[in-house]
Amino acid sequence: MSERERWATRIGLILAAAGNAVGLGNFLRFPVQAAQNGGGAFMIPYFIAFLLLGIPLMWVEWSIGRYGGKYHHGHLPGMFDAIWRNPLAKYIGVLGIFVSSIIMIYYCYIESWTLAFSFFSLGKTYFGLTEFESMTGFLRSYQGVESGFFTSILPAYFFLLITLGVNFYILKRGISKGIELLAKFGMPLLIIMAIVLAIRVITLGTPDPINYPDRSVENGFAFIWNPNFSKLGDAKIWLAAAGQIFFTLSVGMGTLQAYASYLKEKDDIALNGLSTASTNEFVEVILGGSIAIPVAVAFFGLTATTEIASGGAFNLGFVSMPLIFQKLPLGEFFGFLWFFLLFIAGITSSVAMVQPLIAFLKEQFKISHNKATLYVAIGTFVSSHLVVAFFKFGFLDELDYWAGTFFLVLIGFLEVVIFAWIWGMDKGWIEINKGADIKIPKFFYYVIKYVTPLYILTILVYWGLTDAIPTLLMDNIPDEQIPYRWGARAFMFIVFAGLCFMVYKAWKLNKPRYDL
Ligand code: PHE
Repeated sequence: MSERERWATRIGLILAAAGNAVGLGNFLRFPVQAAQNGGGAFMIPYFIAFLLLGIPLMWVEWSIGRYGGKYHHGHLPGMFDAIWRNPLAKYIGVLGIFVSSIIMIYYCYIESWTLAFSFFSLGKTYFGLTEFESMTGFLRSYQGVESGFFTSILPAYFFLLITLGVNFYILKRGISKGIELLAKFGMPLLIIMAIVLAIRVITLGTPDPINYPDRSVENGFAFIWNPNFSKLGDAKIWLAAAGQIFFTLSVGMGTLQAYASYLKEKDDIALNGLSTASTNEFVEVILGGSIAIPVAVAFFGLTATTEIASGGAFNLGFVSMPLIFQKLPLGEFFGFLWFFLLFIAGITSSVAMVQPLIAFLKEQFKISHNKATLYVAIGTFVSSHLVVAFFKFGFLDELDYWAGTFFLVLIGFLEVVIFAWIWGMDKGWIEINKGADIKIPKFFYYVIKYVTPLYILTILVYWGLTDAIPTLLMDNIPDEQIPYRWGARAFMFIVFAGLCFMVYKAWKLNKPRYDL
């Protein structure tokens, strides 16, 4: 077999994997989830999910990826096929190409807003819109939901084109010259920007001690960090916490496996996996947790902050933050830092999302890297029109619910069962520890074998009993959105069926051999 592409350096690999995990999820999704689910009440299930789902799955995924890489598989259909050798395995693996490609289609759109808002900050475009309503109007008109400051969708479309262009330019350059190089510059830059912002927030203290003595940064931190045991009986919070862990660590997506497939057989995965997970958590809870919520509590108070977070997924990041920047000296600079930080966090994640699909096309259909990248670029570009055009009808939300929440958990379940029960935990444990630079406590052997699968199964069963029917039937969805959301489902179905068909064809064309 020909030589496979490799990561150039270990630090580059760790930064790329951390870049994959660290994304909009850390700075936008995490604060919203924390605020919606009671702050200190959310953090307990969150840390438990990190320990019992996040870390174990991280190791499982790196193992599956490195093992698949041995057979030149950079995608989950091939990896599951190599592990299970059952005709069904590759079709289950399709989910691993499917979810990340669907996420790509809407994630890049959000990523493009952050680029646009970086410019709007520097240019003070939204300065003067000092009320919650007017700033919301600015965002909504930018998104094409209503007309207002922006009279057409063209600016949003323009920034989307740039964002897609940059993403695919990096992807075209390949693993070490594209993704790794981006991470080597992007990750340190991102961490520095986040530290500067966090320090700015922490030093705000109590902005208006006379009128609002309880609106302080301290109260913001207290909201997140004072453990609140009273809500632990609420299963919804456990669900949200597990969902956040999956999304933020990029587990259940197929992308970490894809990254790990470019390792050598004896390369460490124990320490690499742990470093990825810890870097992500540092950025999420320490840095991400020190920006959007504390600053919102300091300026608007606790009640308003939770209301803002509940009002919409983007209000905290794109409405409340710009309102606050206008009140700060050098606000245009801090605004730029915030949105550009989001852009960098976003792009180091989005380049991971179509990597499995590109690898699949190259490896199974033997087409060149440039061609594979071009096809995927065209597919993403065409599909993203649906997200832009039907944004106001909940198209993006529908994709996000299924691809960005539900299927991740399902993949996590299937993958840990294939790994620990079909392949066998003893084999799996040897695989995880091969070439390991740290000794993983045996505790995790049992966690991976019993706790992680049962934990996820419980989540799925609970979802099946409480949420499945109303969600499937769209009980709480405004009438005018229903046809579009069905459209989104039909779109996902077509993509999924198309991928299954391609897997079928690919195996007919070149049946992978495992006797090497
Ligand atoms: N983990 C990324 C984030 O927190 C999102 C992501 C999704 C990354 C899918 C890769 C694949 O934003």
